[in-house]
Amino acid sequence: MLNDLRNKRVIITGSTGGIGLATAKYLAKAGAHVTLTSYRQHSDIEETLAELNRFEGSATFHQVDFADDAACERFVSEFAALHGGIDVLINNVGGLVDRKNTDEIDAEFFDDVAYLNMRSAQTMVRLALPYLKQSASQDHWSASVINVGSIAADSGGGPGASLYAASKGWLHSINRSWAKTYAKDNIRFNVVSPGTVDTAFHADKDDATKARISKGIPMGRLGTAEEMAPTFAYLASHAMSGYITGQVININGGQYMA
Ligand SMILES: NC(=O)c1ccc[n+]([C@@H]2O[C@H](COP(=O)([O-])OP(=O)(O)OC[C@H]3O[C@@H](n4cnc5c(N)ncnc54)[C@H](OP(=O)(O)O)[C@@H]3O)[C@@H](O)[C@H]2O)c1
Repeated sequence: MLNDLRNKRVIITGSTGGIGLATAKYLAKAGAHVTLTSYRQHSDIEETLAELNRFEGSATFHQVDFADDAACERFVSEFAALHGGIDVLINNVGGLVDRKNTDEIDAEFFDDVAYLNMRSAQTMVRLALPYLKQSASQDHWSASVINVGSIAADSGGGPGASLYAASKGWLHSINRSWAKTYAKDNIRFNVVSPGTVDTAFHADKDDATKARISKGIPMGRLGTAEEMAPTFAYLASHAMSGYITGQVININGGQYMA
């Protein structure tokens, strides 16, 4: 493998579980310095960090609520001071918050979904940009931002997920704008758009429901977080994807074909 991820400094928002954690492990194995982040503490975090720190790269944990701009600011300064910069930003944090139909959505719920899925990405890109620009001036390297979208952006989402789906559509769209604006600075912006992935995101579904969903997926099953991780490594690496920007990569077992 063409591996230029060794010693690269990678922020992954929302990475104590699911797709974020699987990606952190994959990148640490490739020699990157990654962060595990969540808005809350985890009793087993030291154990998880020890596992990652046995790999070629390294990992630290930062408690940060990405729906809170001031917390993002503190975190980005802390991470950049610790590692001397930022090479890759993965805007992974996101979620439904709750399932609500349009007639049940109040201003507070709207803001919760918008802050978690949209504003967190906008804030993190804004704060990381000076560091990414600096990173992008390295030889044989372009800095990379990977936004985690969703199949919901194309399908409109499941029951009660209209705001979530629309917020992911917003991410797919603003990614194109960021890609165009910052191409001159040698920073690439791409979206990874997962289908239905078996993580805590679907904790509200029983096995029968998952089996029913699987029937609508050509590959006949949900995806795993581990199956998402290599695509993040691909898009992070200049050697592997240095001429790819402004794209959406769907990983969904054929559930949606663009
Ligand atoms: N799973 C799917 O089928 C699917 C499909 C399409 C798109 N996606 C997208 O993929 C991304 C990751 O989803 P996932 O399935 O891996 O979800 P997950 O297993 O629920 O993981 C979410 C991660 O984000 C953290 N988190 C949640 N709210 C946070 C906040 N305000 N500040 C900081 N951290 C926060 C969680 O921390 P804790 O561990 O402490 O809760 C966890 O580490 C999301 O953007 C999601 O929308 C998922």
